[in-house]
Amino acid sequence: ANSEIHRASTTAPVNIAVVKYWGKRDANLNLPTNSSLSVTLAQSDLRTHTTASCSSTYTTDTLTLNSAPQSLSSPRTQACLRELRSLRAALEDSNPSLPKLSPLPLKIVSFNNFPTAAGLASSAAGFAALVRAIADLYALPQSPSSLSLIARQGSGSACRSLLGGFVGWNVGTAPDGSDSKAYEVAPAAHWAELRAIILVASAAKKSVSSTAGMQATVATSPLFRVRAAELVPARMGAMEEAIRRRDFEAFGALTMKESNNFHATCLDTEPPILYLNDTSRAAIRAAEGINKAAGKVVAAYTFDAGPNAVVYYVEGDTERVAGSFKRILANVDGWDGDRGWAVQGQGLEG
Ligand code: PMV
Repeated sequence: ANSEIHRASTTAPVNIAVVKYWGKRDANLNLPTNSSLSVTLAQSDLRTHTTASCSSTYTTDTLTLNSAPQSLSSPRTQACLRELRSLRAALEDSNPSLPKLSPLPLKIVSFNNFPTAAGLASSAAGFAALVRAIADLYALPQSPSSLSLIARQGSGSACRSLLGGFVGWNVGTAPDGSDSKAYEVAPAAHWAELRAIILVASAAKKSVSSTAGMQATVATSPLFRVRAAELVPARMGAMEEAIRRRDFEAFGALTMKESNNFHATCLDTEPPILYLNDTSRAAIRAAEGINKAAGKVVAAYTFDAGPNAVVYYVEGDTERVAGSFKRILANVDGWDGDRGWAVQGQGLEG
């Protein structure tokens, strides 16, 4: 037998939503109840690096993350592997001279260059890197947007990490999910002055998983129904427009409203889901103070399913936003001083 090892490596960046995905209309396919929009953070220490290889010398599919073996048995991961293999098998059928890689066991080796435990959208970068690495290994011709259909089945938000810059995820209407995929709103270079600082809460641990939280919210929150049916559809258009015009005040005001509405629907869930803590609220007050002093919105916070804050600003405001945050929060309990000041300085992913 041929003992050759075929291999491909890639990286995928973390993305942080400014219009949030919260709610599934189909939990098996990870189909959302509303569209969402994110900014891809390109900072080199907020990426997953993944190498995928396959060989007849391997006995079974394996995955390690930061050198620790991980289970591949979840239906989500299995769906990604199955779809990628079937695309490769179709290529092999139509081109018999290609090596038969699709039946071979896969070995997937991933590293996060950021603290996984901090809850910084690690599943998004993780599934995006896994899909991209295997697609490269298989030399699949599919576009990033098509591959996002596969990554979505691993983790919903992962579909947005297949593309760089400003990325939308269309809610779609097809029952099989074929139109629920990522699309480019604008490339990173369109608004290269945009920056983000990530404030890591020292006690960050995930209280309620996003899947469990979403299902409880959809089932019990009346506020969620207004959010999904009215607020988010209007905000998608307004957010795309703010990005097109590079209008930070509109972008920032909407980003904060969106985060607060998402967390309000969490509070409206029975039993209530509380992702924000006192530390998070101190960051919200700090941003309020900075914006009040500036007389306009210069700092825009957003929180995912946890207490960490991501604050967007433009490069010219680095001192009055990132500098002020560091000074104010240095005196607030609960922020991780060692790793809590990850400033995005390199622009956004291209
Ligand atoms: O991709 P998931 O299932 O981990 O969900 C992520 C949901 C949020 O991060 C809270 C919002 C978003 O749009 O990324």
